[in-house]
Amino acid sequence: MTTKRIIIDTDPGVDDALTFLLALASPEIQLEALTTVCGNIGIDKTTRNALAVLELAGASRIPVARGCALPLVSPLGTSGEAVHGTSGLGKADLPEPKSQIVDQHAIDFLIEHILAEPQEITLFMIGPMTNLALAIRKEPRIVPALKELVIMGGAIKQGGNVTPLAEFNIYADPHAAHIVFHAGIPITLIPLDATYKCLLTTADVEHLNRIDSPIARFVRDATAVYMDFYKKYENFDGCALHDPLTLATLIAPELLTFEEHHVDVDISGGVSNGNTFADLMKVSKKPVNMRVAMDVRGRDFVELFIDRMESLSRRI
Ligand code: RIB
Ligand code: CA
Repeated sequence: MTTKRIIIDTDPGVDDALTFLLALASPEIQLEALTTVCGNIGIDKTTRNALAVLELAGASRIPVARGCALPLVSPLGTSGEAVHGTSGLGKADLPEPKSQIVDQHAIDFLIEHILAEPQEITLFMIGPMTNLALAIRKEPRIVPALKELVIMGGAIKQGGNVTPLAEFNIYADPHAAHIVFHAGIPITLIPLDATYKCLLTTADVEHLNRIDSPIARFVRDATAVYMDFYKKYENFDGCALHDPLTLATLIAPELLTFEEHHVDVDISGGVSNGNTFADLMKVSKKPVNMRVAMDVRGRDFVELFIDRMESLSRRI
């Protein structure tokens, strides 16, 4: 099996952190680096959280590059604290990381590593896309050099989760999403239409915690605030594995149902700002610019996630 080399651009964030753990628990994947961005929480906390979660998993060898503290245009009008807690990692209390970030901005780190390994790196975007948008503008040569781009973001037929019409990662920096969507990179979009079908339950987390492990305890503590939010606002005993589902493209693609569409994002600044819309009826005659996961065998993915967390919990 050839391992897939990936970089994750991220705003950890509870489900971001679960994505790192899933990548580290998956033999199909070689996690090469994390680049951080503001999103769920500010850049200082997202960067600290990235270092801390890698340290928890014994993966401090993996470089972390700090990225943008603000979106391209409009300051972030919302915070993810209600979902991710004030630390960004729910009720998890990880020690201050000993490891340091690399001495290079995330934009330059992405450019250097993508150009150094043309057609080798798959980039996973699981937060606002500010870093990548600026990397494309600074060095357009990364577009042909990137193997693939997998994006957690948007909502096609599903309503939004931060406004009725917009999903958080896109809404937080719609201009960055617009640049990325139209750059010409092969894109796989994992929207809310699929991710909301991947619900980790409190029973799943309790089952995992029959293993005495800091990883199992982290999953329980990190998702605690997330679970409370879903119970309070969506009356569900669980939380959606938005970001981890992106890795299904590499570890279990058979679970996803893809459609090819021209997808755009509204940057007009009105009530639907950040809305992602697909030309489902092909009326615009615009070329397809991405494949979109419109469905998933959600419970099968959650069980795969738990299996991989169990194997990681037994190792750490
Ligand atoms: O809408 C879900 C996305 O917003 C996820 O990436 C989550 O971490 C938040 O950033
Ligand atoms: Ca995220």
